[in-house]
Amino acid sequence: VSDMLVDSFGRIHTYLRISLTERCNLRCKYCMPAEGVELTPTAQVLTKDEILRLAGLFVSSGVSKIRLTGGEPTIRKDIEDLCFELSGLKGLETLSMTTNGIVLARKLPKLKECGLTSLNISVDTLVPAKFELMTRRKGHNKVMDSINAAVDLGYNPVKVNCVVMRGFNDDEICDFVELTREKPINVRFIEFMPFDGNVWNVKKLVPYSEMLDTVAKQFPSLKRVQDHPTETAKNFTIDGHKGRVSFITSMTEHFCAGCNRLRLLADGNLKVCLFGPSEVSLRDPMRNGAEDHELREIISAAVKRKKPSHAGMFDIANRVNRPMIHIGG
Ligand code: GTP
Ligand code: 5AD
Ligand code: SF4
Repeated sequence: VSDMLVDSFGRIHTYLRISLTERCNLRCKYCMPAEGVELTPTAQVLTKDEILRLAGLFVSSGVSKIRLTGGEPTIRKDIEDLCFELSGLKGLETLSMTTNGIVLARKLPKLKECGLTSLNISVDTLVPAKFELMTRRKGHNKVMDSINAAVDLGYNPVKVNCVVMRGFNDDEICDFVELTREKPINVRFIEFMPFDGNVWNVKKLVPYSEMLDTVAKQFPSLKRVQDHPTETAKNFTIDGHKGRVSFITSMTEHFCAGCNRLRLLADGNLKVCLFGPSEVSLRDPMRNGAEDHELREIISAAVKRKKPSHAGMFDIANRVNRPMIHIGG
């Protein structure tokens, strides 16, 4: 791994999350405000070739995993080409995607052929009426179909992301765990995080300790697995279940010490931490004719400015940041 990707705390950034679009076919309340968000004009969004050039720089410097995010990555028109080209980058081991699953089922066979190696699908409730309430759209059955299609195509595990919010879906935790019984599904319960426009409130946060209690009471064989130091999830097995259960504890037990992630946003900004406003444009210098070594210097300087945890903020509830839909998780 080249020095470009090592920060001043010795963390090695081998994982790049690329947001392909700020648009989405859902309107989840915890991700965007009702009135929508300001969209970057299309001409200012990175093109496929620009994404490939930047991704190539990162991969040749040591990035071995790319995750495609959004908005919703599957609505980008050139998604298949992008997957095909990215998966061909020498040194890349994992090409993954985080998606809401709305249009995934029909696109998945082609995406798999194009080199998509793993898949995280978001669904926060198993009740269709609640899905409509949270996402302000219909489509719960399509998401469930996509999860099953992913299992049938051999994705193993299929990660299912569930953001837990008090009073909304905290009564469904054990129902979600049931998904792991017969299929290689990894259900991941995520602590609700504050972002611009998502009306976060500490009362809606269901802490890890409480979720763990709930699952352990119903499934006494729940056992913690030894996790990789860069893992964001705390992973668990249950005897007799094909899949696993995990918790992503960004709020009550952050995992920043092992952070290996960088983010390239749809507008070409590099974001070194999920929280906090610290971003630098790679698009502008690239469009002004910067050579690779100049882009590498900009990236390296940004990585060196990365703070030890939570973007250096004590109170992320009052952070300055973007709405989640721009960041892609
Ligand atoms: P894997 O690559 O499979 O480990 O997935 P992931 O958990 O990194 O990514 P995913 O897009 O599935 O996101 C799941 C949850 O983890 C979301 O709530 C993300 O916002 C959160 N998340 C992802 N990366 C980070 C990170 O670097 N820091 C924090 N605090 N949360 C993150
Ligand atoms: N808190 C925690 N997770 C969130 N996600 C979106 N908004 C939030 C939030 N406020 C999740 C999505 C998706 C992943 C990219 O991030 O559900 O699974
Ligand atoms: Fe990394 Fe920032 Fe997430 Fe912490 S909050 S794990 S430093 S991206």
